Order: sequence, then C-alpha cells, then structure tokens
Amino acid sequence: MKNAIVFGATSGIGKAITEFLVKDGYNVAVTGRRLALLETLKSAHPNQILIKQNDIQEVDEVEKVFNEIVSELKTIDLIIQSSGVAFINPKFEWNKEQQSINTNVLGVTKLYTLAYNLFKKQQFGHLVGITSIASIRGNRSAPVYFASKAYQKAYLESLYIKTKTIKTKKVFITEIRLGFVDTDMAFGDGIFWLVPLEKATKQIYSAVKQKKRVAYISKRWRLIAWALKIVPAWLLKKAT
Ligand SMILES: NC(=O)c1ccc[n+]([C@@H]2O[C@H](COP(=O)([O-])OP(=O)(O)OC[C@H]3O[C@@H](n4cnc5c(N)ncnc54)[C@H](OP(=O)(O)O)[C@@H]3O)[C@@H](O)[C@H]2O)c1
Repeated sequence: MKNAIVFGATSGIGKAITEFLVKDGYNVAVTGRRLALLETLKSAHPNQILIKQNDIQEVDEVEKVFNEIVSELKTIDLIIQSSGVAFINPKFEWNKEQQSINTNVLGVTKLYTLAYNLFKKQQFGHLVGITSIASIRGNRSAPVYFASKAYQKAYLESLYIKTKTIKTKKVFITEIRLGFVDTDMAFGDGIFWLVPLEKATKQIYSAVKQKKRVAYISKRWRLIAWALKIVPAWLLKKAT
C-alpha cells in the first residue's frame, strides 16, 4: 500500500485530492488547523486516514508533526502541499500580509524542505506544490498573495533542478498552476473561467499520476499564462 501526506486537507483541493487518493488505495496523512474537518475525513475512511492537526505558520511544530507522520507510516511516496491563504488586501493591512507570508512562504518552505530531504534520504518520492496563475505577474489588490505564489513557483523549480543530484532519479517535483477553482478561496460571483472543483481535481490527479513538471489547471489557463508572460507592465497597469 502506498503512503501520502496532504497538507491543507480540511477543505477545497486538498480535501478533494485526499478522496481520490483514498479511492486509489493510499494511506493518507491529512493536516490542517480545523480538527473537526480532519475527524470527518477520518470517520469516512477510518482505515486509510491518519489525522494530524497543525498550523504551518508554527514551523517547529510542522517539523514535529512531519516526523511523527513519517515514523508512523515509515515511507512516504507522495506529498501534496495544498495549504494556503489568500486575502484581497489593497490597503496592506499588516495582519493579513503577515499571515500570508507566514503561511504561503515560511510554512510552505518548511514543508518543501522537509519533503525534499525525506525523499533524498529515501531515494524516492513525489512532491506536488499547488501554485497559481498568480505566480506569473504582480497585482494591485493582493500583492503578497501573487508574490508568494511566484516564490513557490521558483522554489519548486529549484527543487526540480536539485533532483539532478539524486542518484536513483526517482524523486519527482510537480507544480500544479491553477486558474480559478470553485473552492472557499475563490470568493465572489462571476469569476472568470471558474473551474468546478471535481473537474479541477480530476485534472490535478491525472497530472500527478503522470508526474508532470508543471500542469495548468484547467488546461486552457495555459493560454492566459502565455498572454500574461508577454504583456508589458504598463498595459497590466492600465487594464486591471
Ligand atoms: N481556489 C482557487 O481558485 C485557487 C487558485 C489558485 C491557487 N489556489 C491554491 O490552491 C491551494 C488550495 O486552496 P483551496 O482553493 O483548496 O482553498 P481552501 O479550501 O481555502 O483550502 C486551503 C487549505 O489550506 C489550509 N491552511 C490554510 N492556512 C493554514 C495553516 N496556517 N496551517 C495549516 N493549514 C492551513 C486550510 O486548512 P485550515 O483552515 O483547516 O488550516 C485548507 O485546508 C492554495 O495553496 C491556494 O493558494 C487556489
């Protein structure tokens, strides 16, 4: 039986991907701050779910929880890092900026490094990070979120480059670059090209199984990415 960890499994994409993994026969360690939601997952799949409540902003705790999971499951085949927060914060309210940095940058870096080091030791494993189309350019309403996703994108690419030093060639890094997906995070009505959660999860899981380096979800967001990469900043300033 294969073992996986999903960070940020209490809702949205992390929870949906956990259901796919369980169906596929994985044992899954699930994490997040909301204990009641973790317990709901456990009671639905008592034999395949291990729950560990954690707040990834508390990096020392993250390491403790990570080590507990590894000592219980022994080896880990797949780690999906889906935790994240997003605030529309045009006035730079500091508590929101700080929470975003502590979660999406500090906490996520800790998870990425723990995962990479474990896989290096095991000489196998697959790390999947959930980033965003937001990683490509800046934005005036949520600058810290866009910057944090750019950071994650670069970090995952760095880890991918680093796998060159792993002799077995059995460590894989995947970046899932999302457009808008219908979860609690995608607030507001009438969001452009909003992808239903079920459809997005199917595409994510397929990309994970193929061990893709980067996957746009849904696929047509690749077109937007292409346009975003070439548009000059003055035009972004004018049009958004
Ligand atoms: N939905 C979209 O349109 C969209 C677009 C681009 C990228 N993304 C990315 O997709 C990922 C998943 O988001 P989602 O759409 O599924 O939203 P979501 O339903 O809000 O899920 C976010 C998850 O992150 C966890 N989390 C947040 N802060 C945490 C912390 N400090 N410690 C531990 N866990 C924490 C939450 O659990 P607790 O609250 O229980 O801690 C929850 O399980 C995020 O990285 C997000 O940036 C989403």
